[in-house]
Amino acid sequence: MSKVALINASAVQRHLFTEDVIRQVENTWRWYGEGTIEMPAKITLNMESQGIDSWMNSMPSYIKATDYVGIKWVGGFAESRAAGKPYIRASVFLADSHMGDLRAVFAGDRISDMRTGAQAAIMSKYLAAKTEIVTLIGAGVQGYWCLECMSKILDIKEARICDINPAARERMIKRFEGYPFGLIDSPDNSSGCVGSDIIITVTTANVPLIGKKDVKPGALVLTMGSFAEATDELLLGADRKITDSIAQAVHRGSYAHLAEKGLVDESSFDADISSVIVGKAKGRMSEDEIIVAPIIGMGATDAAVAAMLLEKLERDYPDEVFYFDING
Ligand SMILES: NC(=O)c1ccc[n+]([C@@H]2O[C@H](COP(=O)([O-])OP(=O)(O)OC[C@H]3O[C@@H](n4cnc5c(N)ncnc54)[C@H](O)[C@@H]3O)[C@@H](O)[C@H]2O)c1
Repeated sequence: MSKVALINASAVQRHLFTEDVIRQVENTWRWYGEGTIEMPAKITLNMESQGIDSWMNSMPSYIKATDYVGIKWVGGFAESRAAGKPYIRASVFLADSHMGDLRAVFAGDRISDMRTGAQAAIMSKYLAAKTEIVTLIGAGVQGYWCLECMSKILDIKEARICDINPAARERMIKRFEGYPFGLIDSPDNSSGCVGSDIIITVTTANVPLIGKKDVKPGALVLTMGSFAEATDELLLGADRKITDSIAQAVHRGSYAHLAEKGLVDESSFDADISSVIVGKAKGRMSEDEIIVAPIIGMGATDAAVAAMLLEKLERDYPDEVFYFDING
């Protein structure tokens, strides 16, 4: 009998903790740098041509440390957002890497959202010259998790919240009341970026939200939305370009359109964060260089977080794991 563990959203929400996700995403990037993860670039399925404003990514990986082969199936759904539900919807699957049996299926929204925020925190830990002033452009779900994870490991003094939607800014500021840093409502992106140490763009926009003039020497710019969110001048003119996955950064995220035009290719990136973490490549080289870091998102991070959660649930909360005999 091959039993598949089914992990529902409430089990994920109750038992997956921010600090553990941050640690596991950093582990995953380290393992990738050490060469013990197999992960092809994600494949994007676009449904726009069929009249549906949705896309889905297929993100498989094998991780030696967990010995699972996993996949996150994740997409952006405009109709879900319009209905007041999350834009990003995800499921995660783990299978036995030797026999192929499906081992576990997870409600993946929270896993995906938390690991997305963890990426911003760890990128900042390794690449930021300073972490006092953070500008968040995009006060949605991923923006929330970015700031939440950053607040756990960085010394932030001021967070400026930018978003085209005033209600989203207001909501975000309310969620962070009581945190040990100031919160500034910044309707204008340019003034929100003045003097900022870390700027994150994490919107659903496909237009330049910031330019080189908005970014001070020494700033770290994390572009995390699925499309282009900065001017070509800033993207091309950065002193250093560091990403999570170079192979993916030429197909998706802020540099994809530049790659399509032949203005960047894989050799345009100075390093990936995994190589920086394991010491194979240099991260920041000077206090005053501008680093632009597109974070595209690696499926291995989701599979690693899911494997960690499965182990915890089966060990400590077996009553919350449901099993299904899929081949019965
Ligand atoms: N890099 C990654 O690993 C990763 C992972 C998951 C999602 N994403 C991407 O992150 C982005 C945000 O996803 P989400 O789940 O937070 O969506 P969301 O709908 O919850 O939030 C998006 C926010 O962007 C704001 N926005 C839209 N256009 C804007 C503009 N022109 N200027 C300023 N703000 C604007 C919206 O008002 C909204 O508050 C999407 O592009 C998504 O595909 C990236």
